[in-house]
Amino acid sequence: MELQFENITKNYKSKQVLKGISLTMGTGVYGLLGPNGAGKTTMIRILADVLRPTKGKIRYNGKDIHAVGDEYRAKIGYLPQDVSFYSDFTGRDYLEYSAALKGMEKTHAKKRIEELAHSVGLLDDLHRKCTAYSGGMQRRLGIAQALLDDPEILILDEPTSGLDPYERIKFRNIISAYAKDRLVLLSTHIVSDVEQIAAQIMMMEHGVIQHIHTGEEYIHMMDGRVWLIQMPAEQLVNYQNQAVIGNVRAKDGCMEVRIIEDTKPAGDAVRAAPTLEDAYLYLFNYLPQKAGR
Ligand SMILES: Nc1ncnc2c1ncn2[C@@H]1O[C@H](COP(=O)(O)OP(=O)(O)O)[C@@H](O)[C@H]1O
Ligand SMILES: [Mg+2]
Repeated sequence: MELQFENITKNYKSKQVLKGISLTMGTGVYGLLGPNGAGKTTMIRILADVLRPTKGKIRYNGKDIHAVGDEYRAKIGYLPQDVSFYSDFTGRDYLEYSAALKGMEKTHAKKRIEELAHSVGLLDDLHRKCTAYSGGMQRRLGIAQALLDDPEILILDEPTSGLDPYERIKFRNIISAYAKDRLVLLSTHIVSDVEQIAAQIMMMEHGVIQHIHTGEEYIHMMDGRVWLIQMPAEQLVNYQNQAVIGNVRAKDGCMEVRIIEDTKPAGDAVRAAPTLEDAYLYLFNYLPQKAGR
């Protein structure tokens, strides 16, 4: 299976929100990572065929998705960034209603609802009104909805927002198991959501996919660029304007500061093993062409 973006552009009035995105995706998990306002939701809504691009095409196995129409939409599971629920629906009503919209056969739908409610940990809450669910529970209900008819293409917009650390891990495990022979695209602004499960990570900013690499490639790119320096807290303020600062932690009555720089920032700096988060900070804050931002 192949999905191809061909020069996808989206304008809102005079503002260009997507600036000619071209890329090809096959099966596997793709992470779409970028700061708020980057254009992730816009790109995802175009892929889910709920929003038309201003220019450009998406091809599914070579065919324009608008020509394929319903047949394409039937292959998609989609979790929007914001889901609203009818106030008198229980969790079960919501899933049954979604299954009916997807044209699922009733007995099969019932079985699938039980299975998914179990895997997202909502089995005991299906009889409750979804408006009484916590944010995390509503998110998990939305994830179950997206998975209902085993879509070949699963598109999740900020699926982990509102999930606690345990729920995040569980979510990652569900998606990893699901992704075999399928395409999963998930957007997030949280690095740790994608670093373990996404085979390919797209970094997006200002309506452009700036980079597409594997997690290892990003980390490798950062070799020799991540440093630890001990300094008193007062000095940190000066550093903040000169370099990209990662995590800071208190150590031995001093601050241990993670600095991302191409060259050794100080005589007593020691190299640290890079992470995907370092790459994110480096690529979004520190590229030479962005100097002065
Ligand atoms: N319906 C809309 N009308 C006008 N501007 C919009 C609309 N939707 C999104 N935008 C703008 O498009 C840009 C990208 O938004 P979005 O795709 O939601 O980014 P992300 O999901 O990465 O946070 C933002 O500047 C946002 O304000
Ligand atoms: Mg968004």
